[in-house]
Amino acid sequence: MEKMEMDTQIQLLEAMLDGSKVGTIVTDPEKEDNPIIYANHTFTEMTGYGKEEILGRNCRFLQGPDTSAMGVDQIRQAIKNQEKTTVILRNYRKDGTSFWNRLAITPVLVKEKLYFIGTQTDVTIEQLQEEAITAHESEIERLMLPILSIQPNVATVALVGTMSLQRFEALKVKLCEYVSEHRIEHALLDITGLTWNEESPLHWFTQIYEALRIMGSHMYITGVTPQAATELVRDLDRDNMLKTYSSIEKALADING
Ligand SMILES: Cc1cc2nc3c(=O)[nH]c(=O)nc-3n(C[C@H](O)[C@H](O)[C@H](O)COP(=O)(O)O)c2cc1C
Repeated sequence: MEKMEMDTQIQLLEAMLDGSKVGTIVTDPEKEDNPIIYANHTFTEMTGYGKEEILGRNCRFLQGPDTSAMGVDQIRQAIKNQEKTTVILRNYRKDGTSFWNRLAITPVLVKEKLYFIGTQTDVTIEQLQEEAITAHESEIERLMLPILSIQPNVATVALVGTMSLQRFEALKVKLCEYVSEHRIEHALLDITGLTWNEESPLHWFTQIYEALRIMGSHMYITGVTPQAATELVRDLDRDNMLKTYSSIEKALADING
């Protein structure tokens, strides 16, 4: 390939960087407070600061009240150790609005002199989507398996809809954690809102029943019709410990003697 003149190469590289979707800056750690010595056009657009306001300053001016201190610590550590790092942190534009910045910092040696290159990507949309998904997931989880203490040693969980193996497994883990954390002796599984179908695998209850029994707790099933009670007891009640009741009140009356 024909050898390009140095300044042509530089101009092309600069045009590439300015046209890229990613903010790019270079800092010089040998200068006082590691200031920015280069910023591409995207960085100025992303932050709202002009080049003259940026050059010569440390990049921490983008930080504000909700910038994670842990994220900043991670950057400080990486710079100290001259290592690569990537963090997602909240930054602030010149107009005070905030955005999520995925910042990647890389140390580079050019003619034995150290520089840091930083690339900034605005990931606000992805971050908001992720937050919304997490909020939905915990809401679904909460709605699907709400465990409540109704007396100091008694907890209930209302099973609603159809239970899948995954839901039973989640219930088992959650209930065991709850029972041990809150020293629950009696766990009431209320199945009033549960939709039974042909394949309703009653043996899944056995696993929860056994797990709780090992922990020294008793499991009761409430909201049971007389017909379902016969089936449940036939399937589960091997040592007469499992009790079924038509309502939570009836179970409580029995527990409280
Ligand atoms: C190349 C480079 C790019 C950086 N870009 C950002 C940035 O976009 N946003 C930010 O909050 N901090 C950025 N920083 C981090 C800050 O400049 C500073 O290193 C950090 O706040 C930790 O140092 P301090 O504790 O002295 O503030 C960057 C650092 C370097 C070296």
